[in-house]
Amino acid sequence: MSHSLDEFADRLQEEINQEVIQTYGEKVYERWRNPRFRGRMESPAGYGRVTGNCGDTMEIFLRFEGEVVSDASFTTDGCGCSAVCASVACELAIGKGPKGVADVTGEMILHVLGGLPEDNVHCAFLAAETLQVAADDSMNRNT
Ligand code: FES
Repeated sequence: MSHSLDEFADRLQEEINQEVIQTYGEKVYERWRNPRFRGRMESPAGYGRVTGNCGDTMEIFLRFEGEVVSDASFTTDGCGCSAVCASVACELAIGKGPKGVADVTGEMILHVLGGLPEDNVHCAFLAAETLQVAADDSMNRNT
């Protein structure tokens, strides 16, 4: 009984995986399965929190070593795409100075992901905006 339940669950998961790949593409799928940089950060040097028009709230945390972002992380209460986009935003931030971080755009995030369906494009812009707020916060702390 439990064996067939496991098989059913595996088949269902595989169907979901295939649907995600078809709708969002391989790059989004990989990131969705492994949303790197997810989690809160204690004592960040830069912090951004933005609620998008969709009602979802994203947070991005930045840590610096000297002038360069050495670590970044995010939380989101939003859709799967919001986690995917925030994860890419963190990745793009690492290794950049505050100004370089502030230059990360929604288009750059979309480019890394190979694009998103029309309904989810705003998720990338929410991630970029949240990163921008975190970068501004870090610059304000240093003035
Ligand atoms: Fe709100 Fe994706 S629907 S961030």
